[in-house]
Amino acid sequence: MNEILTVNGLRFKPFLRVDTIQEQVRRVAAEIRNDYEGKSPIFLCVLNGAFVFAADLYRELAMTNSKIQFVKYSSYEGTNTTGEVKQVIGLSENVEGKDIIIIEDIVDTGLTAVKMIDDLRKLNPASIRFATLLHKQESSKTGFVPDYIAFSIPPLFVVGYGLDLDGKARNLPEIYINCDEE
Ligand code: IMP
Repeated sequence: MNEILTVNGLRFKPFLRVDTIQEQVRRVAAEIRNDYEGKSPIFLCVLNGAFVFAADLYRELAMTNSKIQFVKYSSYEGTNTTGEVKQVIGLSENVEGKDIIIIEDIVDTGLTAVKMIDDLRKLNPASIRFATLLHKQESSKTGFVPDYIAFSIPPLFVVGYGLDLDGKARNLPEIYINCDEE
C-alpha cells in the first residue's frame, strides 16, 4: 500500500489501511452491540457506498435478532455534492415501532443524513441512530453529528472500501485520499 493511484485524472495516496479499518469496525460493532443488548434493531445500509462497511460491520455485530435493509440516496456528481438529495430505492419493510440504525459510508455536508432521518421519522420508528465509517466534520452544513463514527477525516475526497469517484475505485480494500486537493 505505497503507490499513488490515478482515478479520473485525480491522484490518490494511501490513507487508511485494512488493519486500521477493521480495528475501528470492531470498535463500532462493540459499541452498537452494547447499546442494543436485548433489542432487535433494523440496520439500513445506504447504497451504494456503504455496502462494504455494512457487510463487515453487520458480520462483526453478530446480532442474530437484527435485520438489514438497503436504501439508496444520491447527491454526488464527480467530487462535488449537487446539494439536492434524492431517494432512489426505498424501504421494503415496515419500520413502525422499530429501532433503526442507518449505516452510511461517509457524512460530508450532512444533507443526505438529515434528509434520510426526516423521511424515516414519518414512518414512526421507535428510534433512529446513525453509524458512519467516515465523518468530514469540517464540511458540515447541517451541524449533524452521527451517533457512531469509525473515523473523523479532513475535508478531502476519498475512495476505496466502498467509496467511489463516479462509480470507480469502490473495490480498493484500503481507503485512499486525494493528494491534489491538499
Ligand atoms: P453529504 O450529503 O454531503 O453528507 O454526502 C454524503 C454522500 O456524498 C455520501 O454518501 C457519498 O456518497 C458522497 N461523498 C461525500 N464525500 C465523499 C468522498 O470523499 N468520497 C466518495 N463519496 C463521497
